[in-house]
This record gives sequence, structure tokens and C-alpha cells, in this order.
Amino acid sequence: MHRLITFALLVAGLATVGCIRPDGAKKTLPGKELFAACASCHGENGAGQANIAAPNIAGLPAWYVEAQLAKYRSGARGAHPEDLEGLRMRPMSRQMMDEGEVKAVAAYVATLAPVKSAPSLKDADAAAGAGSYATCLACHGDKGQGNQALNAPPLAGQYDWYLVSQLKKFKSGIRGANPLDVTGGQMRPMSMTLPDEQAMKNVVAHISTFNR
Ligand code: HEC
Ligand code: HEC
Repeated sequence: MHRLITFALLVAGLATVGCIRPDGAKKTLPGKELFAACASCHGENGAGQANIAAPNIAGLPAWYVEAQLAKYRSGARGAHPEDLEGLRMRPMSRQMMDEGEVKAVAAYVATLAPVKSAPSLKDADAAAGAGSYATCLACHGDKGQGNQALNAPPLAGQYDWYLVSQLKKFKSGIRGANPLDVTGGQMRPMSMTLPDEQAMKNVVAHISTFNR
């Protein structure tokens, strides 16, 4: 019985994502409908869920969401065996989406109203982190707003624990070391300017002072 229910849910889930028309051609669903498959982890409003380590994606620019979904699809991101959270995200981008759907869902994510994530770091020194942020400013902007010309995403408003986890991943090579990941490869040396986890927490505490 349980299996039947699981199967029914799976079929219902697939039906909300891809849709095969009677003539056999695949029809691209609108981004809003595609997003139903993302909401279980990232939330209806895209603000993420800390308990399952799903980041806040509400209002991220379409170019960045598109680029990240493409990376998950190709394995440039999220395929490293130690990338536990990336491995959760990856199947979604791979099994169910084609390029048109990636574009449509990315455009929808960009329309979601930005939500500022609640801070969680306890032992971080934002004032100390302000000094390290001087290195980041050229790409991510003085208010963490990002810069499309440099492929640098906005950081303002994102969960602090997520930003710290990404800095660790860049530094250890779980993210950004794959030769397919050109823009991750640009970020990776920057993570190496932060000597330890405390320095990462400090710079992220500074980023958390930016409004979104
Ligand atoms: C099973 C849960 C799950 C589902 C479903 C899911 N995601 Fe994710 N997603 C995650 C997790 C966890 C991460 C963080 C990976 C990490 O920490 O490295 C993530 C990361 C991302 C990122 C990277 C954010 C950034 O700032 O770099 C984007 C963009 C994203 N997801 C978009 C989507 C979209 C769009 C969908 C629906 C098509 C989706 N996700 C479905 C769990 C999920
Ligand atoms: C040379 C430009 C450049 C500089 C300088 C730079 N970054 Fe980045 N950063 C990037 C790019 C490009 C990406 C996107 C990588 C990708 O496409 O996966 C990124 C991604 C990130 C991410 C992941 C965001 C997410 O949503 O997953 C974090 C966190 C981050 N940078 C923090 C920093 C911090 C902190 C500094 C300063 C110590 C810094 N960056 C300096 C270019 C830069």
C-alpha cells in the first residue's frame, strides 16, 4: 500500500514537471508550474529551508539560476562525492528539465520577491569581516548585490550558514575545482584568501549586514 502511494505521488510529481503531449512532443510548462518541483525544498516563496540545507533563491537573477542549473545538469557542480547537499539538488536538475524548462523556471525564480534570511552565526565578528570583504567587493559589489558582467551572484539576503558552507566547498575543491566549472574556478582562489573557518564566518557576518 505504501509503495502504491509513493508511486502515485511520484507520478503526480513528474506530471507537474514534464508533460508529454498526446502527439509525443514535449511541451515546456510555464516557470510557475515547473517551480512546484522546487518548492518542496526551497519553499513556495523560494526563501529556502535551513533544516534541509536548501538555500534562499528568491529573487536571484535568472542568469545565475540558469547557470547553476546548467552546472548541476552537467556535473560541474553537485557531482563531487562529498557534496552531500549538491547531490540532493542535482537529480532535480538532471532528470526532469530540458534547456527550455531551465530558462522558464529561472525566469520565474527571478520574479520571486527577495526575502532576507534570519542570521544564525553565534561567534562571528562582522567588524573583523569587513576588512576581508575588501577582497570580495570588486566582484560581489559594496552591498553584496552581485555583478552579472563578472558572473558574480548577489550574496546579500542569503543564509549565513549557506554562504559559509559554500566558502568551505570552494576552498576544499568540492565546488569550483571541476574543469567544467569556469566561473567557480574564478571564485575558488578568493576562498583561499580566508585562512580558516572563523575568517569565513566573520566575512559572512559582514555580508549579513547588507540589506536586500
Ligand atoms: C530535494 C531538495 C531540492 C529540490 C527539489 C530542489 N533543490 Fe535547489 N538546492 C537544494 C540544495 C540542498 C541546494 C544547496 C546545495 C549546496 O549547498 O551546495 C540547492 C541549490 C540550488 C541553487 C544554487 C543556489 C546558489 O545560490 O548558488 C539553485 C539556483 C537551485 N537550488 C534552484 C532550484 C530549482 C530551480 C529547483 C526546481 C527545479 C530546485 N532547486 C529543486 C535542494 C533542492
Ligand atoms: C574575481 C571575482 C570574485 C571575487 C573577488 C570574489 N568572488 Fe565570490 N564568486 C565569484 C563568482 C564568479 C561566483 C559564482 C561561481 C559560480 O558560478 O558557481 C562566486 C560565488 C560566491 C559564493 C557562492 C554564492 C552562492 O549563492 O552559492 C560565495 C559565498 C562567494 N562567492 C563569496 C565571496 C567572498 C566572501 C569573497 C571575498 C573573500 C568573494 N566571493 C570574492 C567571483 C568572485
